Amino acid sequence: MKAVAVFPASREVKSIAVPEPLLATPTDVRLRILDVGICGTDKELCAFKYGTPPAGSDHLVIGHESLGEVVEVGSAVTRVDVGDLVVPMVRRPCPRADCRACAAGRQDFCFTGEYTERGIKERHGFMTEWVVDDQRYMNVVPRALRDVGVLVEPLTIAEKALAQVRLVQQRLPWTASASDSAAGTGHRAVVLGAGPVGLLGAMALVAAGFATFVYSRGGDAGPRARIVREIGATFVAAESTTVAALPQVVGAIDVVYEATGASKLAFDVLPLLGTNGIFVFTGVPGRRAPVAVDTDLLMRNLVLKNQIVLGSVNASRADFEAAIRDLGLFQSRWPRALAALVTGRFPIDAYAEALLRAPADAIKSVVAVS
Ligand code: BGC
Repeated sequence: MKAVAVFPASREVKSIAVPEPLLATPTDVRLRILDVGICGTDKELCAFKYGTPPAGSDHLVIGHESLGEVVEVGSAVTRVDVGDLVVPMVRRPCPRADCRACAAGRQDFCFTGEYTERGIKERHGFMTEWVVDDQRYMNVVPRALRDVGVLVEPLTIAEKALAQVRLVQQRLPWTASASDSAAGTGHRAVVLGAGPVGLLGAMALVAAGFATFVYSRGGDAGPRARIVREIGATFVAAESTTVAALPQVVGAIDVVYEATGASKLAFDVLPLLGTNGIFVFTGVPGRRAPVAVDTDLLMRNLVLKNQIVLGSVNASRADFEAAIRDLGLFQSRWPRALAALVTGRFPIDAYAEALLRAPADAIKSVVAVS
């Protein structure tokens, strides 16, 4: 079968032929991969800046945002049936018995750093025709979400971040009484970046009741701004509004959801965070030259304004389940905006177009494997 892989030592990205995987344990399931989304991490992998092949392999099959169809189940499988659409989880527990996070099924909080990630770190990914994996990593997606199910994994970034925000908000007794789905009521959120992670994050924030502002390049008249307006959020064009002017546009900023991976922008916005505010980092920047930050100002603000800065990496089963629920909600509320996130579908043989030569205005490119 075909698979798309990176070969870090020879710095190649190519389509290869690999043997079809077979069920190996009674709890294994076999998937026909339908869609694989491409994100910034894949581009970093293809630039050989990130990622690690499995031990003993000279290559890593990429692809971690996926949607598959169950075609075969082992004799002890109870969670899924043949014909189900599923999104597999990406991160897998480390082997260490003393890692309490992994033992608790929360490998997204792995203490040891020895976790693996399919398509990213020491485990082959999903940009291939067939995949075998254990049922415990499968999340069933309703058929009605066939065309957008590939967005579940990037949405889990926002879901985990929002779950963290809700936990932090519980320190404020008057907010803690709000139900989960209304956690944002009366609060203002700024999303940095209008890529797929930013736009899905904006949808999740709007759905949770936040007055949401998306700060991005791309201009007021562009497709990203249109999506932002369609979901009832406000687009703030970086071309015409400076970072320093953000509080004039937004008012007090309660939450910043960083979705650009650009550390300079993030640290320019951090001093603007409001009282009791929460700043969530989700991007993984490449290493560039250090930038100067006003540490006294930041430290004064953090203390005198009770601020929290948190980083969040994907993702637990609960985050996948929340993403599947929310995707259904987005589809009923904003079908056009949701569909507009997928800007290109490419057959697997055209993987290079999707990965290496995507047009600048692409939002989410998808490799339609079958
Ligand atoms: C993926 C996450 C992963 C992270 C770090 C992201 O692109 O969506 O699942 O944990 O990269 O490797």
